[in-house]
Amino acid sequence: MLQSWVIGCGLASGSGAASQEGVDGGKLYTIVDGKVDARTYNGFRRYHAGCNHCHGPDGVGSTFVSSLVDRLLDIAAFRRVVREGQSNGALVMKGFADDPNFAPYIDDIYAYLQARADGALGRGRPTRLEP
Ligand code: HEC
Repeated sequence: MLQSWVIGCGLASGSGAASQEGVDGGKLYTIVDGKVDARTYNGFRRYHAGCNHCHGPDGVGSTFVSSLVDRLLDIAAFRRVVREGQSNGALVMKGFADDPNFAPYIDDIYAYLQARADGALGRGRPTRLEP
């Protein structure tokens, strides 16, 4: 069960950690020796289940919708847009507030996109740290 994955179990301590700052204004992802924590991995999976067909694989954008990696909103604005939706002329993104496959995991998706935006994570499927 994804929901039962333990997050933040202290793996970030030590030299290989790319980033582990607090949740307040810091980084939501943890990458150790190129491997991502459960939250970031879940974000990758969720992103590629519900966002990639508009925002492009790995967050790079598409011909019709902006990249989420080149310019990432701050987390408060990100949560609001993803919950409430956004449109640009005829292009409409529905809000995900009532979608049980996404609403609980918005921060996980943010963690993944933040790692991509920071250049800490490349394209493609990441390897997950063992729980
Ligand atoms: C049906 C297509 C579609 C899907 C699916 C979709 N979006 Fe969007 N998204 C858009 C459009 C259209 C916009 C507004 C125009 C733009 O930013 O290019 C937008 C805007 C956004 C923005 C604001 C970008 C900014 O810089 O202002 C965020 C953040 C975002 N989407 C995240 C997501 C996430 C996360 C998912 C998956 C849970 C998702 N979107 C799924 C079409 C989509």
